[in-house]
Amino acid sequence: MDLTPRSLGTSPVSIGPLGLGCWPLAGMTREGVTAEAAVATVRAAVDAGVAHLDTAYCYGEHGESERAIQAAVGGRRDRVVIAGKCGIHWEKDTTKTPPRRQVVDGRPERIRAQVAESLARLGTDHLDLLYLHAPDPAIPIEESAGELQRLLDAGQARAIGLSNASTPLLARFAAECPLHACQMHFNMLQREIEAEVLPWCRSRGVAMVVYWPLMKGLLAGTMERNRVFPASDSRHKYPMFQGLEFARNLDFVESLRPVAERLGHTLPDLVLAWTAEQPGITGVLFGATSPEQVCENARALACDLDDEARTAIRAAIAARGQVASGRAV
Ligand SMILES: NC(=O)c1ccc[n+]([C@@H]2O[C@H](COP(=O)([O-])OP(=O)(O)OC[C@H]3O[C@@H](n4cnc5c(N)ncnc54)[C@H](OP(=O)(O)O)[C@@H]3O)[C@@H](O)[C@H]2O)c1
Repeated sequence: MDLTPRSLGTSPVSIGPLGLGCWPLAGMTREGVTAEAAVATVRAAVDAGVAHLDTAYCYGEHGESERAIQAAVGGRRDRVVIAGKCGIHWEKDTTKTPPRRQVVDGRPERIRAQVAESLARLGTDHLDLLYLHAPDPAIPIEESAGELQRLLDAGQARAIGLSNASTPLLARFAAECPLHACQMHFNMLQREIEAEVLPWCRSRGVAMVVYWPLMKGLLAGTMERNRVFPASDSRHKYPMFQGLEFARNLDFVESLRPVAERLGHTLPDLVLAWTAEQPGITGVLFGATSPEQVCENARALACDLDDEARTAIRAAIAARGQVASGRAV
């Protein structure tokens, strides 16, 4: 994998090819992730040279992900790139199981308050990268962008990003505030961004940071065919984990296994290395729930694909076809 640091647009911030996505560590959609495991997982990432830590105000009902980062990073703040997100929070909703609902609120006063709280939880005075988590359909995106511009000017963020947005909204945002990065989902079988958003970002020098590279764990190659997700694991809601779709996706994963083995790597390494080398992809965020997963995935940094591997992967992807993404977290 090419380890050259990659710039976030015109900002002073650069990242390595892999980052740790700290959503699963919040324990909201995965069972058995303790606060201790969360801290150990982040620490393992930093130790392994995965220094880009991606979190959000809403990763945990009470900032569990941000607090784990603070505890793990400690005095090594200057060695990590912390990316945060604002504009989504949780509210109690007893009609749902679990009893909460996600609220998108990108009003300036809400953004300002969330960033202040995130900085306190993280124990830092700035985020290296601050994204608007998703456009708020109830207000013009310019209002949210204006607040991010103010936070950039105030030094509370060193680079600005927008996540989960269409190209018209990216363009409106960028007209109001410097846009250094965009964050969207992307993996071998879910490549919708290649149609519009990725070309738009490439042509404007906006970095593309991608999530779900392991398709929420499916492409890691350890899921049993009879896996049943408990109600508390949000993956049970996605079509890619259900019925025939799930079986076909697991067949696809099996078709990649010999490719990884020939290179002397594991499946997650192969998948992450392929994702990181796709044209226009600046950074790849993998989630993990244990130090062991982090250490395995970090070995992708030493995984170099050859043409034989690329050809085999291309054929496997073509045979499977693209997969509907379903609902986003
Ligand atoms: N901007 C947004 O709206 C948005 C949305 C989603 C995610 N994100 C960010 O992107 C990050 C990545 O997305 P993600 O975590 O949802 O999906 P992902 O990286 O595709 O999958 C992560 C899951 O894969 C499994 N896994 C990882 N390494 C493994 C290994 N070596 N062996 C076996 N299983 C392994 C773990 O599942 P188990 O939990 O079963 O152990 C882990 O939770 C998030 O953490 C978050 O920071 C952003």
